[in-house]
Amino acid sequence: MCGIVGCILKNDEDVAPILFNCISKLEYRGYDSIGFATYSENRIHIKKDKGKIEEVENKLNLSNMPGKLGIAHVRWATHGDPSKLNSHPHVDERKELAIVHNGIIENYLEIKEELIKEGHVFKSDTDTEVIPHLIEKFMNEGFDLEHALRETIDVIHGAYSIAAISTKEPNKIVATRKDSPLIVGIGENGYYLASDSPAILKYARDIIYPEKGEIVILDENGVVVHDEFDNIVNKEIESINWTPEMAEKEGYDHFMIKEINEQASAVKNTLTQKEHIQEIIDDIEGNIQRICFVACGTSYHASLTGKYLIESLAGIPTDVILASEFKYSANTLNDKTLVIFISQSGETADSLKALDIANQTSKTLGIVNVVGSSITRRAQYVIQTQAGPEIGVAATKTYLAQLTAIYLFSALLAKNEELVNELDKVPDFIDETLENIDFIKGISKRYNYARDFFYLGRGFSYPTALEGALKLKEITYIHGEGYAAGELKHGPLALIDEGIPVVVIVPPGDSYRKTMSNLEEVKSRGANVLAIGSADDDALKEQADDVITINPEIDELIAPLIYVVPLQLIAYFITLEKGHDPDKPKNLAKCVTVE
Ligand code: F6R
Repeated sequence: MCGIVGCILKNDEDVAPILFNCISKLEYRGYDSIGFATYSENRIHIKKDKGKIEEVENKLNLSNMPGKLGIAHVRWATHGDPSKLNSHPHVDERKELAIVHNGIIENYLEIKEELIKEGHVFKSDTDTEVIPHLIEKFMNEGFDLEHALRETIDVIHGAYSIAAISTKEPNKIVATRKDSPLIVGIGENGYYLASDSPAILKYARDIIYPEKGEIVILDENGVVVHDEFDNIVNKEIESINWTPEMAEKEGYDHFMIKEINEQASAVKNTLTQKEHIQEIIDDIEGNIQRICFVACGTSYHASLTGKYLIESLAGIPTDVILASEFKYSANTLNDKTLVIFISQSGETADSLKALDIANQTSKTLGIVNVVGSSITRRAQYVIQTQAGPEIGVAATKTYLAQLTAIYLFSALLAKNEELVNELDKVPDFIDETLENIDFIKGISKRYNYARDFFYLGRGFSYPTALEGALKLKEITYIHGEGYAAGELKHGPLALIDEGIPVVVIVPPGDSYRKTMSNLEEVKSRGANVLAIGSADDDALKEQADDVITINPEIDELIAPLIYVVPLQLIAYFITLEKGHDPDKPKNLAKCVTVE
């Protein structure tokens, strides 16, 4: 959902190669266009175009631009097609000012109309372009850059992180944010701004997190943050323990496959949160009559698993609500409700809006991967999942880290020591499943022909079916539907035809027999059944066309933590067969900061 970067160096080197390195790490946030603005010798230099970073670099040589300070942007189009004109940075009338923006300006049409009446000429179709024109207008009225930005944010509505440079105040970058992420890095060689930490890990790991409405001023002497009354704010500097290598492919072809392979560590590291989770439970226990999960996409599927766990283990009524639907159903919350927000990025706009509502009446807990993100700052309790940075757009290791936190939370809430101990075995089970990678690759190739897939699972395996279908859709562009296995006969069975692939998740446990009957139902209608089940399940091997086998020790209760791995791999390998880039699926971005 767009990424921005800014940097000012303490020495006189050119900043462009550093900007290039930083912004390349944010490509997962947007990949339809890229642009840089640097300042040197009384002018702003701009290079920008439509295309992926590498394409534009080859064409324009972005990393060769003069000046020790600059800003950069990768775009995920919302208003206006991907095109050179709509790419950021955007400038004012006289090109004395350049800005980059992540977010959406909701009232840009009214502002644009007013500015046009005042004589401003617009070149792009974007909402963003009103920002440089407004800053220009306020600077013409006598405001300095910082205060012109402050006046501008009084006029615009919506979500934004903005960084601006101006020839009138040449040796600084000013920035601000509301509802879009922005971090400030303090490095040895300079000062940095970025939408997310992987961009600057190589250069700075001491981080300041600006709050809504604060204005950040970077110059070669340091960073100053002003609140809305112009007072200097003494911001806490937090060190981030992620390393630059974590945001590199390290020999893998894609981030997605690297991150799938890191899942055992993501689980292991998240299990270290046990004591902290126990403290949260000690604090809220006795005061909770109902739990409500709120999330989107993959995080919603992790939440759905949470419902099955908490209701079956702890007997607390639990709902799961899509964050985008939350405001339409939030009126039954009260102070005995715990609302749990699951989010990889911690910046999803729908979840943040819901969190603000829930904070008014209920206890809130964020289960979040990105350190310092907005949900971690706004939720009353936080569990930090320990997956490390996830760069591939399709969530994999963060899903398993979320599940791990949810399992620990549910098991500790239910005082189920046996399950808590069982979780220690999960990292080994995951690695063991990954040993089957070549076999899964071979099977995936055979299913490459399909235009539609069904995924079936019951009980704990139902969210896994949904997640398998989502992974397939988002990176292979093949239509996939996840269903509760018993629900298929209530309509969708009509779609089952000769050769249609049906992936059936059938671990040992209470749901086994019924899921096997559903498998037979689709098989007898000609489906091509790919089953995921226990290695010693001979009946399954007889019934299904293909079986991916999993350690028989894993029953349906912990299966969600392991059975999803082959589903991720199937989606990955089919994507490669189709020649798509699994890390950058079309139309999607890693962090969705608009509602
Ligand atoms: C799918 C995926 C998305 C996210 C969703 C929520 O692979 O990554 O469906 O799960 O956009 O994002 P977070 O978890 O950052 O709130």
